[in-house]
Amino acid sequence: MNRFLSFRVLASLGAVMLGLAITATQTHTQAGVTDAVPGLSATSNGFAEEFCGVGPFRQAVVANSPNSPEIPPGECSFDTAAQEFGAIDTEAEGLGPIFNNSGCGTCHFTPDLGGSSQITEKRAGFFNGSTFFDHPGGSLIQDRSLDPAQQEVVTDPKTNVFAFRSSLNVAGDGFVEAISNTTLQNIANGQPISIRGQVVSVAVFEAPGSNRVGRFGWKGQQASMVSFSADAYVNEMGITSPLQPDENTSNGVPVGARDTVPAGHPDDPAFPDTDGVDVELFALFMRSLPPPARDARRAATTAAQTGSNIFDSIGCDNCHVRSIVTVAPGTLINGGALRVGNALGNKRIRPFSDFLLHDVDTGDGIVQNGGQGSRNRMRTPPLWGLRLRGRFMHDGQSLTLTDAIRRHGNQADFARDAFNALGSTSKSNLLAFLNSL
Ligand code: HEC
Ligand code: HEC
Repeated sequence: MNRFLSFRVLASLGAVMLGLAITATQTHTQAGVTDAVPGLSATSNGFAEEFCGVGPFRQAVVANSPNSPEIPPGECSFDTAAQEFGAIDTEAEGLGPIFNNSGCGTCHFTPDLGGSSQITEKRAGFFNGSTFFDHPGGSLIQDRSLDPAQQEVVTDPKTNVFAFRSSLNVAGDGFVEAISNTTLQNIANGQPISIRGQVVSVAVFEAPGSNRVGRFGWKGQQASMVSFSADAYVNEMGITSPLQPDENTSNGVPVGARDTVPAGHPDDPAFPDTDGVDVELFALFMRSLPPPARDARRAATTAAQTGSNIFDSIGCDNCHVRSIVTVAPGTLINGGALRVGNALGNKRIRPFSDFLLHDVDTGDGIVQNGGQGSRNRMRTPPLWGLRLRGRFMHDGQSLTLTDAIRRHGNQADFARDAFNALGSTSKSNLLAFLNSL
């Protein structure tokens, strides 16, 4: 629980309540909250059954995107969505011309479809001392090309910002999407000024004209599963869709000449890479995944339990927030494009993240949706599923947890110093806790 948050919420409840529940969390203001059931395999949390079924939260009722298609009844199921997410695409299916890999599952597969991997991506740009500029063609430098002449490389001699970004786990993201803007804003407001996270406002592609608090990606650059899917489809795989109709360039040079499946603008439906149903299926799959489960045996050890208390006492939980509650069923999110149902609504998750951007002295210098001030800020990564990763931090350059913690500075220097000051038993207890996540 976030101490600062609970204080704020309690204060707003008024003095009468204070005496009743001094340890109340944010969750006590919302009735009917239950724990999200975690898991480690790609099985449905119930979202797909609700969305594809005939009940009150079926697709026709909850999905409302003027520019993104409905999933046809025959294709709407968890299995079809998993198949689409795990599929490998070929050039004939729109892959490339420039891309990073040939399927979502190629980078999101540990310990199962929807997890993460050791694969990193490359970004580059130019910082002139006050402003960051994308490398020509965008800061993401795709690593692969179907045409040797179109291989993206760093071409601009001015380039002085280079970054790696590690693949992220997507399991549990449906719950994260179902956190309200207000909850994230309240977490920020509750953090002391010296460590306060930045709330980033980003566009929701499937609700044109709407913005929402970003929470996905190392820069909090997206807020919705459908938007991230369309973005990943074109940027990772070179496959355009109605929500991202423009083909990537190769270092700023159009690649259309090589593209045997030309980009399909909505006004040119004759030649779409895709009609957008697959984008909706990726979102369906990710929304249906349970959050990563802890290792129950390790979590039950005295070492891990003691370490869990140390995690809070040295202030790690200020940013790696333990528990957050999603909106109530029936609530509209994503600028009205999705109504949350029973599978994802009123759920308590334990992500160990505030989903906000912080400067902990590791910033990668890249600006995405957070403005120039976000150059050196990174989103607090959720620590759920941490034991399933072997390379830590956005760049994957920390190979031990101790190194990852020691790299924390600036807004997190107090926590790093407190970690360094721990005795060896306390340190190993903290690590036992982290290794149980
Ligand atoms: C080449 C490897 C690769 C491929 C292919 C790939 N991803 Fe990713 N994915 C990543 C990386 C790296 C990140 C972190 C990117 C960042 O924040 O800069 C990421 C982040 C994400 C996130 C954000 C997760 C979070 O909780 O913040 C989502 C959602 C996602 N990917 C979905 C997809 C989908 C859907 C596809 C297929 C259309 C896909 N990815 C294909 C590597 C990949
Ligand atoms: C001020 C906010 C803040 C505090 C306090 C904080 N962290 Fe972090 N933590 C972050 C951010 C931001 C990152 C990502 C940095 C990056 O990737 O460059 C991070 C990354 C991590 C990672 C790497 C996770 C991964 O998947 O790669 C671990 C492990 C971690 N923190 C543990 C801790 C522990 C343990 C403490 C307490 C000693 C702590 N953090 C305190 C913000 C914070």
